[in-house]
Amino acid sequence: MALTPQWLDELRARITLSALIGRTVKVTKAGREFKACCPFHNEKSPSFTINDEKGFYHCFGCSAHGDAIRWMTDQRGLSFMDAIKELAAEAGMEVPAPDPKAAQRAEKANSLYDVMTAAQDWFVTQLLGVEGSAARGYLKQRGFTEQTIRDFGFGLAPDNRTGLKTALKQFGDPMLIEAGLLISVDGKAPYDRFRGRLMIPIRDPRGRVIAFGGRILGEGEPKYLNSPDTPLFDKGRTLYNLDKCSPASRQTGRVIVVEGYMDVIALAQAGFADAVAPLGTALTEQQIQMLWRMTEKPLLCFDGDSAGQKAAMRAALRALPLLKPGHSLQFVTLPEGQDPDDLVKASGPAALTVLLESSQPLVERLWRAEMSAGSLDTPEDRAGLKQRLGAHMANIADGEIRRHYADAFRERFDNLFAQRPRASFTPPTTFVRGRKPVWGKPQILPPGAETKSFNAKDSDFLIQGVLAALLRHPSLISQHYEALSDFVPPDPNHAALLNAMLNESFGKETLDTEGLITILGEKLYNVASGLLHSNGKVFAFNRGEFGTGSDGLSSASKDLGEAIRLMKQRPALEEALERATQLASSEMTEETFAEQQRLRHEKKAFDDRIIEFFRRDTDSL
Ligand code: UTP
Ligand code: MN
Repeated sequence: MALTPQWLDELRARITLSALIGRTVKVTKAGREFKACCPFHNEKSPSFTINDEKGFYHCFGCSAHGDAIRWMTDQRGLSFMDAIKELAAEAGMEVPAPDPKAAQRAEKANSLYDVMTAAQDWFVTQLLGVEGSAARGYLKQRGFTEQTIRDFGFGLAPDNRTGLKTALKQFGDPMLIEAGLLISVDGKAPYDRFRGRLMIPIRDPRGRVIAFGGRILGEGEPKYLNSPDTPLFDKGRTLYNLDKCSPASRQTGRVIVVEGYMDVIALAQAGFADAVAPLGTALTEQQIQMLWRMTEKPLLCFDGDSAGQKAAMRAALRALPLLKPGHSLQFVTLPEGQDPDDLVKASGPAALTVLLESSQPLVERLWRAEMSAGSLDTPEDRAGLKQRLGAHMANIADGEIRRHYADAFRERFDNLFAQRPRASFTPPTTFVRGRKPVWGKPQILPPGAETKSFNAKDSDFLIQGVLAALLRHPSLISQHYEALSDFVPPDPNHAALLNAMLNESFGKETLDTEGLITILGEKLYNVASGLLHSNGKVFAFNRGEFGTGSDGLSSASKDLGEAIRLMKQRPALEEALERATQLASSEMTEETFAEQQRLRHEKKAFDDRIIEFFRRDTDSL
């Protein structure tokens, strides 16, 4: 019977263990897990837990432990094959046909893992040895720490056609070929696939090495070389770092999908342990399903360049037929020319957090992509837009979701066109001051409906950035004293901190960070050090590269002045817009409508300015 480890993993993944066990014993939900009275020993209070995510049950009383298959054999008393057959029928999978060579193959899979482990050990040894100094230098220059290098198992394949072949000769060439480690071309002696490359082991969900990625040291083509598909490795069904990401995502409730394994590793080092990457191909259906097992809305964080954006769009289209209630994708767009690795190195983790928090839902991504695909000036153009949106909707298999998409697209479509042409029409003659006009009711949008990519959190971020800058360069407080003195941040901690800073700086020519911090009470001290450590790194005035030359300081001070102005204006603008929206919806007149529209545009322009300010600042690195 050709039951591959992958096939069994798929079977386990398709079975909901709590439901299976729930047929025999009463199970109750307890947080992320389920509990029951243990069927393997006598007990009154439940110590038997079921974890659907891991696909395991465990009894803390009698140590009974196993997966769905084990349940069927141990509790239901079935033979292994009968257990498999019954579970497969339930999961809608076909049991692979009997095969006389099966036992042999299972044996081989086992030893293929051994081959991979041996190869991994050998690559690591090479990296640590004399030949590894250039590679170690490369890793260091990229900023990877010793800890990271060990955690992710970096290794080195020396530039040699027979290094690995000789070192692992006890396994024999055929097996090394099957493991993807040797290349054999028509009759010539097999030779090492990976030569002169930095090696990154690719692990399966259980943490076993199943393949390798090799990066060229320095420049050259191809930049990355991956293992071919082997009995252990199926590219389209593997996500790099899934084994580490899965437990981390249970803590964060989040999964970040990036394009490259170096990005995953750099993110882990920067404190984002919940990242995975596909292996150089577009996201497959299986990979999307794997992501959904960890979180409902994985965050796709692809490069800002056109290739990255195309990859994001391809993932969006692939997800449409798979959508199910509650499950979707979110999109994060990085500044052009920066991948996640570059971004966290240049601007710090806070910059990425900001971007992650302003991710776009799938529906918005599709809408924007189609809306910006071409001109919308003529009726034909608009019909074209409708048609393209319709085609996307048609790909959604779930009827309920499809209807919601239809509503969402229609609303956006109407909003987009409701205002433009009508403005140039002559208003109908029946317009009476103070009364609802009888012509088509203009759409009143809630504040910020179209500036979703920039939300209250971002304005908070701006405040934090400004406060951090003032903490770092207290001499700037007196320069901006006036502007700051009538601003009250919405967060009481921030308000208290600003107040203390203003009091302390009053009348003082010189003030340093240390002096400032020491006068703060414990609580404010914690707020301040939090700000100094985590926030505001995206702004030039927080990166400390000014303040030495007098010119550097004055231009940063100007920037800070602008940031303070933006920070102060936004809440007022928001409030005005909210008021105008309320007024316009309760009392629709030409004036209230015009005022609401004016403020809406003003706020949009304003947010664009802040975003521009962020961007300019991160780009100039
Ligand atoms: P990138 O070209 O974006 O590289 O490839 P990167 O992740 O930024 O790597 P560094 O920082 O230059 O080292 C992204 C992913 O595409 C696949 C790899 O899986 C890589 O992680 N790829 C890329 C290949 O398979 N082959 C290549 O030649 C290049
Ligand atoms: Mn990179």
